[in-house]
Amino acid sequence: MTENEIGISRILITKEQIARRVSEMGLLLSKDYKGQKVLLVSILKGAFVFLADIIREMTIPCEVDFMAVSSYKNGISTSGKLEILKDLSTDISGYNVIIIEDILDSGLTLNEVYKLLLSRRPRTLKVCTLLYKERPREGQIVKADYIGFSINDEFVVGYGLDYAEKFRGLSYIGICDFNGRPPFLSQKEMS
Ligand code: IMP
Ligand code: MG
Repeated sequence: MTENEIGISRILITKEQIARRVSEMGLLLSKDYKGQKVLLVSILKGAFVFLADIIREMTIPCEVDFMAVSSYKNGISTSGKLEILKDLSTDISGYNVIIIEDILDSGLTLNEVYKLLLSRRPRTLKVCTLLYKERPREGQIVKADYIGFSINDEFVVGYGLDYAEKFRGLSYIGICDFNGRPPFLSQKEMS
C-alpha cells in the first residue's frame, strides 16, 4: 500500500451544509460584535478557507491578521509545545479579537495561542472554530465560544484541513480513509 492510496471514505459535511452554517455563524458574530472594533485572527494554514468564507458573511467591518505556529506534530497528534513561525502584524490591544480556527482537536495549539494573545491585552478574546471534536481532553483547555459543527473523533480533511498537505482544496469535509493502516505519516510524507 502506498501513501497515494489514502483517500476519502465518506463525506461528513457537504458543501451546502458548510455554507449554511458558516452564513449563520457570520451573522451571529456580526450581531454580537455590532459597533465594536473587531480583529479576526486566523491560525495558518488550516483555517484560511473558513476565514475567507465567514468574513464574507459578516455584515460589520472587521480587520484580519494571521499567525503561523508549529506545534511539533508528527502526523496527526500535537505535543503541546508551540513555536511561532509568523507573528501578527497588528497591536491587538484595544481590539475585540476573535480567533478563527479550523478544528479544535486536543486544543493544545489553541491553548498556547490563546495565552499568548491574552498576554497582549486585547479588549476581548474569543474563539470561533468550524469543527469541534467530541473527545476527552487533558488539562484546562480553552473553551470554544462559537462552534460550527461538533464531530466524532475521526480524522477529517477538506475545506482547508489537510493530511500531509493534501486535500485542503475539497469543498466538503470528508473522513480520511487510511485503508486500515495507522494514520501516522511515513518518513516519506514527513520529509
Ligand atoms: P490540536 O492542537 O490537537 O487541537 O490541533 C491543532 C491543529 O491540528 C488543528 O488546527 C488542525 O490544523 C490540525 N488537526 C487536528 N485534527 C485534525 C483533523 O482531524 N484533520 C486535519 N487536521 C487536524
Ligand atoms: Mg494540518
